[in-house]
Amino acid sequence: MSTEIGNQTRKPLAVITGGSSGIGATFARRLAPDHDLLLIARRKERLEQLAAELSRTYGSHVEVMTADLTVEQDLAALTERLETAKDLALLVNNAGFGSRGRFWESPIETQEQMHRLHVMAPLRLTHAALRNMVLHDFGGIINVASVAAFVRSSGSTSYCSTKTWMTVFTETLHLELRSIRSNVVVQVLCPGYTYSEFHDTLGVNREKLAPRSFWLTSDEVVDASLAGLRQRKLFVIPGWRYRVLTSLMSKVPTRLRLALEAATTKTRSGQLTPSKREPAGIGQSGPDQARDR
Ligand SMILES: NC(=O)c1ccc[n+]([C@@H]2O[C@H](COP(=O)([O-])OP(=O)(O)OC[C@H]3O[C@@H](n4cnc5c(N)ncnc54)[C@H](OP(=O)(O)O)[C@@H]3O)[C@@H](O)[C@H]2O)c1
Repeated sequence: MSTEIGNQTRKPLAVITGGSSGIGATFARRLAPDHDLLLIARRKERLEQLAAELSRTYGSHVEVMTADLTVEQDLAALTERLETAKDLALLVNNAGFGSRGRFWESPIETQEQMHRLHVMAPLRLTHAALRNMVLHDFGGIINVASVAAFVRSSGSTSYCSTKTWMTVFTETLHLELRSIRSNVVVQVLCPGYTYSEFHDTLGVNREKLAPRSFWLTSDEVVDASLAGLRQRKLFVIPGWRYRVLTSLMSKVPTRLRLALEAATTKTRSGQLTPSKREPAGIGQSGPDQARDR
């Protein structure tokens, strides 16, 4: 299940879920010069290619774990690793996917998978990592949520809900760690639209979703996150447009916010909602349905 590449002097360990593409792969590239890495995802070949590149370039020890974090056995194996990993310095709970379609029209299996990946996996992995980190009074956890934690949109019920859970979870952990004056740091990273494989998997047209100025690169997202980690920032929202948007949306009265969200959803509904003629489930994109492995 796991492969090790590189055998040099050990560096602090960074563990990244969803390390095979997008934001997770960029975290791996940014962290590799100063860290050993454990990269987790389902696509073995992609992980191994990245691991070989990073260990060759930076001389780091890079291990890959092929795992589907919605599957209990795989999640349990990783949890065990985190509880006992020596030099565990950073956990990035990044693996995730989007979906399309009204809640009741899309398959319940996809919604459940999303809750397992966005809620149960970070919950279990963070629990294991913190038992290790708090004991040593050292380390950090980055939970990759989304601007969707602040802005609701029709067609993304489970996505908005699970990402909101992630922000509340991280905020509350922050309070608990502060109450014991721990040096362990937690961050909730809330990117807006970011170029990655996320929207390819969903099968949506980026240009129709948002103007180009709203799109971030994964480098911008990860650089903001790591700069925020050095400053021990709890919330990191990359890009000034998204900072303005989230700050406004969290201040306006709920009725006004819902009216704005309803208006925005209308203009995007062609992108986010499967056509009425399609049977429920077509156009719905779960990780297994959309990717050719
Ligand atoms: N792109 C955006 O616009 C955007 C905006 C806000 C937040 N985010 C969040 O950013 C995070 C990373 O997404 P991304 O944009 O980098 O998309 P991405 O390129 O599609 O990456 C998603 C990663 O998650 C992994 N993954 C998916 N299902 C998994 C499973 N069941 N078990 C283990 N790994 C799984 C994928 O690897 P395998 O397919 O190999 O398993 C992949 O490495 C997600 O949590 C997403 O919600 C993205």
